[in-house]
Amino acid sequence: SWTMLNIVEDAVDAVREQVGPHGRAICGLSGGVDSAVAAAIVQRAIGDRLTCVFVDHGLLRKGEAEQVERDFVAVTGVRLRVVDAAERFLKALTGVSDPEEKRKIIGREFIRVFEDEQRAIMADGPVDFLVQGTLYPDVVESGGGTGAANIKSHHNVGGLPDDLKFALVEPLRTLFKDEVRRAGEELGLPPAMVWRQPFPGPGLGIRIVGEVTHDRLEILREADAIAREELSRAGLDRDIWQCPVVLLADVRSVGVQGDGRTYGHPVVLRPVSSEDAMTADWSRVPYDVLARVSTRITNEVREINRVVLDVTSKPPGTIEWE
Ligand code: XMP
Repeated sequence: SWTMLNIVEDAVDAVREQVGPHGRAICGLSGGVDSAVAAAIVQRAIGDRLTCVFVDHGLLRKGEAEQVERDFVAVTGVRLRVVDAAERFLKALTGVSDPEEKRKIIGREFIRVFEDEQRAIMADGPVDFLVQGTLYPDVVESGGGTGAANIKSHHNVGGLPDDLKFALVEPLRTLFKDEVRRAGEELGLPPAMVWRQPFPGPGLGIRIVGEVTHDRLEILREADAIAREELSRAGLDRDIWQCPVVLLADVRSVGVQGDGRTYGHPVVLRPVSSEDAMTADWSRVPYDVLARVSTRITNEVREINRVVLDVTSKPPGTIEWE
């Protein structure tokens, strides 16, 4: 729309002014809409003086890394450095089952990898600006000030290092989420990115109850992709706030397939409706949709022989299981 076009153009102008004719900036991409829109705006303003960094921690869902590396880059022309750090994160998570411990490790590794990239980028010349996808509600929540101290500690993957000597560029600072999505459409970003439901920074790492392993990630990724596909096909994307699919990796359940007994794992579907994730209700997904999800997951993912539905509101249950 006309106003959305203006909002994007104003944001681009403001960034150009702030960064100046020679300034360089770095932006971390998470796969989510906020960092993507922020990066696309800054790219429009300063072109290749922006370098984006995508740390692939191997905990994203099926297709999401490709969406960033291929589709987003194709549309925006962003200069991107991809770090395939999946092995490193898996190694760091070996033997860890405690959810808070997982979060700490993922956050810590993320910062380390990001800092390495930063150093490599700065070898080509100084960088003075760090791009953040901070939204208006975040600004209000953190007291409205500026500076690294205000990067929210629950930032996607555990917070960025606070000893960074960068000025922050926050092109989404005056926008609400729905405006960010419309800006994303205006910028031509991939719809799957623009309409992506909330997804936690630690990713699938906190949707495997138990230790995170390569095989378990593969299993969960397949089950999650099927659930997302069927919920979308049923037209439920706008009704459902998010639908974690959780692998109960330390639980085994007996099943029967053909003539044989199976001893596999259950997955939990956790579709919720919510306004802001502070409270939530379990979504009344039609039975026939649930049936299709269940049939497909148990048919197509060999290791899963049971699909269960979480019917707990928040409170008392959180949205995620970990
Ligand atoms: P809970 O599970 O607390 O989740 O009801 C509320 C919202 O926050 C997301 N979530 C996280 N996001 N890092 C994130 O960036 C995290 O560690 C994390 N834990 C939960 C969750 O997906 C929901 O949208």
